[in-house]
Amino acid sequence: MKNRVLVTGGAGFIGSHICEMYVREGYEVLCVDNLSSGKVDNICHLLADEKFTFVEADIKDNAKMRAIFQSFRPQIINHHAAQKSVVSSMEDPVYDLDINLGGLLVLLQCTQHFPIEKFIYVSSGGALSKVIEGTEKSKESDTPQLLSPYAITKYAGEKYLDIYANTYGFEYTVLRYANIYGPRQIPDGECGVVPIFVNNILANKPSVLMTYPDMPKGCTRDYVYVGDVVEANRLVSEKAVNTVLNIGTGDEIAILDIYNTILDVFEKDVAITIEGPRLGDVKRSVLASDRAQKLTGWTNKVSLKEGLIALKDSLLQQQV
Ligand SMILES: NC(=O)c1ccc[n+]([C@@H]2O[C@H](COP(=O)([O-])OP(=O)(O)OC[C@H]3O[C@@H](n4cnc5c(N)ncnc54)[C@H](O)[C@@H]3O)[C@@H](O)[C@H]2O)c1
Repeated sequence: MKNRVLVTGGAGFIGSHICEMYVREGYEVLCVDNLSSGKVDNICHLLADEKFTFVEADIKDNAKMRAIFQSFRPQIINHHAAQKSVVSSMEDPVYDLDINLGGLLVLLQCTQHFPIEKFIYVSSGGALSKVIEGTEKSKESDTPQLLSPYAITKYAGEKYLDIYANTYGFEYTVLRYANIYGPRQIPDGECGVVPIFVNNILANKPSVLMTYPDMPKGCTRDYVYVGDVVEANRLVSEKAVNTVLNIGTGDEIAILDIYNTILDVFEKDVAITIEGPRLGDVKRSVLASDRAQKLTGWTNKVSLKEGLIALKDSLLQQQV
């Protein structure tokens, strides 16, 4: 049996794929989720496995989290639970602060009483992007723009983790994800642009693209298939890194181009209208992931078209 790993947000889109990977790799997995956006359906295929346990709990619940740490004694924490939307963080910054920093601090406080070996923290390469000029890409060492409460709480979380890891002597990795897409993603928030477009296209419903006047094809983003993100988590679970790693493809894609690629893969022709702007959004985002490649060997393997075909196949399988 490998290490005991506590996955927060493990019933969500990305977290459920991470739980699958840990079970497959032989880890003993405890998934904690309050099901605010996650679903038991995402992990129900794992429940029969003796290496997997699900506990419905809020990471803000100090007493419950302490009891979980006391009985399970995690060696690794893989922290995916979060309020994940830039737009929601502009509308309700107190809730964003509460979950994204308050929740993280409950976990970090638990590590003071029940020592761990490693903490994997998920941050956002897109929200923490600097202003991109010309053909450059965001690097981990850049100064982020911090345009939204979400960007601030994710960034502050990285700093809190650094303090706790150094003070209490555990390894850590910050994974700054680009925009992730794939099976089980729900059509909410700006992260969910792919499922929003896919749902509309399958229902022959026009979509709306929110953008800035000087970005006629929409803001640009870097899209990573969820399977590639899972592999990044597998690698940093096995290896000490103790730094921040961008997880992106390095390909900058305008939202209108994503829409047209989805039309192409799903063999559809549905209209899109352009409106805007959207508060808090960075205009351009694309990540350089050379550090992840150098330190862990991680590279992006799935192209956008391959990822969208895999998503289409998984949707077709659900209909069978
Ligand atoms: N999807 C992306 O493109 C993207 C990009 C960058 C970073 N991220 C980060 O990746 C992580 C996972 O995102 P996702 O897209 O899978 O979103 P998701 O909403 O599917 O997953 C988040 C999970 O956390 C759970 N959760 C939320 N608050 C909780 C709480 N207080 N206690 C316990 N569980 C709670 C939710 O129920 C959900 O299952 C988040 O930290 C997000 O900020 C995602």
